Amino acid sequence: MFSRQIHSCEDARRLAKKRLPWMVFDYMDGAAGEGYGEVRNRQVMQDIRLQPSVLINVEHRSLDVRVFDHGAKRPFGVSPMGMCNLSGPGADLMLARLAARENVPLGVSTVASTAMEPLIEAAEGNAWFQLYFSGDGVGTFKLVERAKTAGYDTIILTVDVAEVGRRPRELRHGFTMPFKIGPKQFMDFALHPRWSLTSLFAGKPQMANFDMPGYEFDRTESRAKADWNTLSRLRDMWPGKLVVKGVLDSDDALALKGTGVDAIQVSSHGSRQLDSAPAPILELAKIRAAVGADYPLFYDTGLRSGEDVVKAYAQGANFTFLGRVLQFAIAAGGEEGLQELWNVLRSETSITLAQIGQRSLITEA
Ligand SMILES: Cc1cc2nc3c(=O)[nH]c(=O)nc-3n(C[C@H](O)[C@H](O)[C@H](O)COP(=O)(O)O)c2cc1C
Repeated sequence: MFSRQIHSCEDARRLAKKRLPWMVFDYMDGAAGEGYGEVRNRQVMQDIRLQPSVLINVEHRSLDVRVFDHGAKRPFGVSPMGMCNLSGPGADLMLARLAARENVPLGVSTVASTAMEPLIEAAEGNAWFQLYFSGDGVGTFKLVERAKTAGYDTIILTVDVAEVGRRPRELRHGFTMPFKIGPKQFMDFALHPRWSLTSLFAGKPQMANFDMPGYEFDRTESRAKADWNTLSRLRDMWPGKLVVKGVLDSDDALALKGTGVDAIQVSSHGSRQLDSAPAPILELAKIRAAVGADYPLFYDTGLRSGEDVVKAYAQGANFTFLGRVLQFAIAAGGEEGLQELWNVLRSETSITLAQIGQRSLITEA
């Protein structure tokens, strides 16, 4: 019903805002602190200009790129996000099927609302497991073993959540996982009956990866003990590709490269962790200069159009990941809405390439 109304990421957000309970919308949309970091990254992104070049034959354009050894049909994938099923029942699987169709990586969060095994299956192998180090690390390394058994060949270690950031918008609504439904939340759900009837009746979304013997997980548990030894241990036990996500500093990037990390994802976690973090799109260019031309760099945070995607590549990214906008599209129009927004982003990216006289995002030698 909401489909065919999505012509931009902002359309998806506006429709999601109408449909989702305030508590859920503010959890997804919210940012750390006052939200200044998010606004600033958007401003910086908007201020980056793309230089048009004329009279270049751009009739045949391709959005194909390579990510590690795989060909991806699109220059963007799905960033790992916890509790996606809050945007609608089956959202995780919708994202997995999208990853399979489009041959792009799906980030499967430690705190996903669907277990990692059905997700890699639905994604037809196009899934990377995202790891949060937590507590004393015992459960964390059990998850790594489990990901290996499930057939994952790429793991993403997220390092920008030493403590879960304070996001006042979700805190004001009493957002907790698992849900606690008091009078305030009850009222919120009652005023959003479409969501409540489908999502709550489908069963309250759960953190599905923790249904594992001997593992108690608390979303707000401190991740503060993770250090360079944790990374070395992970490197030693993980034979596949290792990506470190949430890096904003050139010295850190160089040290990670030196430790045998296969790729870095430059990100400020969608501005959800540290309000005062530098604008990641600017750090991307600096990190590219530090690590050299051939080292794989991925980017996420604040991508809201195909033009933004092209800008991230222009700043040195080899691949990009989309975050909350995909959840908004699902909230707005289910699987159709998701595909619709995806098509918008694909078309925007291709048209942008045409306008700037480029046929591809892969640098032509
Ligand atoms: C609702 C939500 C949940 C998220 N959960 C995770 C997570 O579990 N693990 C992780 O590494 N990043 C998580 N992220 C961050 C995303 O992977 C990504 O860095 C961010 O959303 C990109 O910014 P954008 O939303 O502005 O595109 C989450 C983001 C959102 C919006």
